[in-house]
Amino acid sequence: MSVSAFIQSLPKAELHLHIEGTLEPELMLAIASRNAVELPFGTVSQVRQAYQFGNLQDFLDIYYRCMSVLLTEKDFFDLTRAYFDRIAVQSVRHAEIFFDPQAHTGRGVAFNTVCAGIRRGLDYGFERHGITSRLIMCFLRHLDEADAMATLETALRHRSLIYGVGLDSGELGNPPSKFARVFTRARAAGFAVVAHAGEEGPPEYVREAVDMLRVQRIDHGNRALEDSGLVAELVESQIPLTVCPLSNQKLGVVACLERHPLRNMLDAGLVITINSDDPAFFGGYINENYQAMQDRLGIDDHALAGIARNSFDAAFMDAQRREELLAELDEYVADHLGTPSAAT
Ligand code: ADE
Ligand code: ZN
Repeated sequence: MSVSAFIQSLPKAELHLHIEGTLEPELMLAIASRNAVELPFGTVSQVRQAYQFGNLQDFLDIYYRCMSVLLTEKDFFDLTRAYFDRIAVQSVRHAEIFFDPQAHTGRGVAFNTVCAGIRRGLDYGFERHGITSRLIMCFLRHLDEADAMATLETALRHRSLIYGVGLDSGELGNPPSKFARVFTRARAAGFAVVAHAGEEGPPEYVREAVDMLRVQRIDHGNRALEDSGLVAELVESQIPLTVCPLSNQKLGVVACLERHPLRNMLDAGLVITINSDDPAFFGGYINENYQAMQDRLGIDDHALAGIARNSFDAAFMDAQRREELLAELDEYVADHLGTPSAAT
C-alpha cells in the first residue's frame, strides 16, 4: 500500500500497539535460530502464508507460538528497537506500548528479563528518535484472576517503568467483570487503566469495562455501536476508542474495510484514534491504517488530522509534551491544509 506524503509526515501518536505483535518474520526466524527454538515454518514466505486468520483465537494461537522465540533481554531489546526504527519514519512522536508478561513468564522467561529488554528499547526510541513512550502491561484475560493479581504484584516492583495496565487475549467468555478486583487494585496503585472490549465481545463488555474497570480508553470498541445508549455515554464521557482497521479486517471483525464502522463512529461523535494493534501480523503499521481508511472510506486529510489530534489528546503524556505535539500538528496542518485541525 502506498502512503500519501500528507499521512507520511502527519505527526501522530500510536495508542494501541502490542510489542509482541511487531515481531516481523525476518527477526522472528533470526531469533529462533540463535535461540535454537523450533517453529512450524522455515522461511519468511511460509510464515506469511500462515498468517490467515478466521477470528481472534486463530490469530492468538499463532501469535503466542511466534513470541515463544523471545527468551533473552536482547531479544526484547531487538524487538522494541526495530519497532521504533519503523515508526520513526512514520512520524509517530509518542507510542503507548502493550506487553503481555504472562505470555512470557508462563513459559519460564523472567518478568525482569522482559522488562529490562523493553526498557532499553524505550530508551533507544527516545535517545535515537526523540519518540516518547508509555508502557502498558496487559493481563491475559483467558487466564484466571489470581494469575492476573500475582502479575500485578510483580509489576509493583517495576512501578517506574510500567505506566498503565490493560486487558487483552481471547475476549468471548472472558468479560471485564472477571478482573474487576485486579483493576481496582491497579487503580489504587496509581496505574492508568485501559481494556480491550467490543472487538469480538458484546456491547455489555464495553459497558463493564467503563463501569467496573473504570477504563480511561477502550481498545477497539467496535461492537459498542450496537447499543445506542452506550454510544451516547461514550460520547458524553469522551472516553476515546483506539480503533485498529487492518486488524479488524484480518480478524474478521469487519467483512471488508469498505464496511469498517470508522466513519459511523466519527459521525456519532465518538473520540476516535487510528492504531495498528499487531502490525507484523496484519500487514501494516500506523500509516497504512490511516491510508486504508482514506482509500476505503474516503476519510479526508482534514479528518485524519483530527484523528491525529485525538491521538495526542487521548495519550497518557504530560501537559508540556502534549502542548508541544499539538503545536507541531497545528503548524503541519496550517502549512498543508491551510486551516487548523479540529478535534473529530
Ligand atoms: N493481543 C494481541 N492483539 C490482540 C487483539 N487484537 N485482541 C486481543 N488480544 C490481543
Ligand atoms: Zn490489541
